[in-house]
Amino acid sequence: SNQPVYRATTTAPVNIAVIKYWGKRDITLNLPTNSSLSVTLSQRSLRTLTTASCSANYPAEDTLNLNGKPQEIQSSKRTLACLSNLRALRKSLEDGDASLPKLSTLPLRIVSENNFPTAAGLASSAAGFAALVRAVADLYSLPQSARELSRIARQGSGSACRSLMGGYVAWRTGELADGSDSLAEEVAPAAHWPEMRALILVVSAEKKDVPSTEGMQTTVHTSDLFDHRAKNVVPERMAAIEAAIQARDFPKFAEITMRDSNTFHATCLDSWPPIFYMNDVSRAAVRLVHDINRAVGRTVAAYTFDAGPNAVIYYEEKDEALVAGTVKAILGASASGWEGPFYEKLANATAP
Ligand code: PMV
Repeated sequence: SNQPVYRATTTAPVNIAVIKYWGKRDITLNLPTNSSLSVTLSQRSLRTLTTASCSANYPAEDTLNLNGKPQEIQSSKRTLACLSNLRALRKSLEDGDASLPKLSTLPLRIVSENNFPTAAGLASSAAGFAALVRAVADLYSLPQSARELSRIARQGSGSACRSLMGGYVAWRTGELADGSDSLAEEVAPAAHWPEMRALILVVSAEKKDVPSTEGMQTTVHTSDLFDHRAKNVVPERMAAIEAAIQARDFPKFAEITMRDSNTFHATCLDSWPPIFYMNDVSRAAVRLVHDINRAVGRTVAAYTFDAGPNAVIYYEEKDEALVAGTVKAILGASASGWEGPFYEKLANATAP
């Protein structure tokens, strides 16, 4: 048979949290213990490109291909949850309008490609699930807003809910048990702070030691510090960093960012057995940023580390030479143990 093929293509950006999501209060729905806040990076260097299509010509099972490799979609509860949520929304459109083609009944084919190393602590799952949800939502012509779609992307990977928007994005924990109010929202658009830049230092592009879900569970169940961070530390930091963003107060933004990265990694160290994501090269980057800030006499750079050794350094364009120049000159020297590459000028993304 020669049935039509319906198709939609989209890209999604990476986001890097400045207040980290770490810990789930519900594993199935991916509900977080604490709110988080991230900066969406420019798609010029890092992005996921995804095409979703559906057709009666396709074999009956949905398929997902990532970077040229077929994925075990049936064993990925997260992917299945995203797809069944999206199908249900399409089905309700079709139920209300008999003239619409019944795309919800057709097998899906999803093809996705990252232009950067997967699972290396470069937030590939965030861009990946955001692109998957956006592509299928476009294919299905869903009317839902990015905020509403964030509820679905969250079930793929928590941090993915923040990659559906540009600029500065908060993911609020929400209070309801069904997760319907655990959503991302834009705190400020990228254009609000056009001077913001990010430099990514790839210490290692290898797959990370402890996947985030496993690491989070170990921390939730064994760290005493974890509860303190979630209850007493993060709520105040969320309010303070939102105020710093509104005021474009870089020193404030930077101090909160660095402190929250350190507190997150402290809860990892406080887990039992302890989890180490940062290595000697990561710590060299921490020292260097503090040295630069001290030498300049004001805070011009901020580091943050996710579940891996790679550093992301935020700075403002006017301090490009001071920050990016010094970091590259010192850590780029062969003795530092740095493998590179450097990805630059990544913040200031326009809305996806
Ligand atoms: O979205 P996940 O499950 O890959 O977890 C992301 C966790 C951190 O990157 C360490 C923090 C964050 O908020 O992105």
